[in-house]
Amino acid sequence: MSDNRSAAAPHVVRLPQYTKADQEEILGDGDDPFGVASAGLTWLPKEEHFGIRHEDRLVAHAGLRLLPVAIGAAETEVVGVGGVAVAPGMQGQGLARLVVTAALEHARTMGPGHALLFCRPPLVPLYRHLGWHPLDTDVLVEQPEDRLVTMPLRTMVTPLRDGARWPSGPVRLFSLPM
Ligand SMILES: CC(C)(COP(=O)(O)OP(=O)(O)OC[C@H]1O[C@@H](n2cnc3c(N)ncnc32)[C@H](O)[C@@H]1OP(=O)(O)O)[C@@H](O)C(=O)NCCC(=O)NCCS
Repeated sequence: MSDNRSAAAPHVVRLPQYTKADQEEILGDGDDPFGVASAGLTWLPKEEHFGIRHEDRLVAHAGLRLLPVAIGAAETEVVGVGGVAVAPGMQGQGLARLVVTAALEHARTMGPGHALLFCRPPLVPLYRHLGWHPLDTDVLVEQPEDRLVTMPLRTMVTPLRDGARWPSGPVRLFSLPM
């Protein structure tokens, strides 16, 4: 029997890099593929990249990056998750679940007790379904020219270790958002 079936099953690979062209391969070259341009924010690139290929084309991505953060009085780090993207023709088939789950598996080896992401309000139910929780506190993030702004998108977190509890208090990223 040929092995076509297992070859066709989507699986996540670690990507050595993730360029603008890679993102365009997934989401096209529109002006605002993540629908967040109106927030007017400057974002950091991610450092670790996970992807799914289908018929030699990149069709899904999730990125990770360590972020220094203050939560209440505690200064710590979180794993930022960003650039989550699935090609329009492949959405609704569980690829975001697959690639985010693989990225979080790696995030568990990075040290912090939580991962954090920013998303548009309509995506909160999707991420809730994947085990993330929205924060109710304001989240301050850095922007160019020493500006500190309140993140206008929703912030969601998920534990990376059994028993990890998100501390109470306001949240401040010591970096641009990712
Ligand atoms: C957001 C995006 C990544 C989702 O990708 P996707 O492959 O369609 O998502 P999935 O099919 O993996 O869905 C994940 C899970 O959420 C569920 N889900 C989807 N929409 C939901 C909703 N509104 N409420 C609750 N659950 C929802 C799915 O049923 C699935 O659950 P299951 O695995 O138990 O069946 C994709 O639409 C995209 O790339 N959008 C453009 C870029 C973008 O906005 N990225 C987000 C950056 S934060």
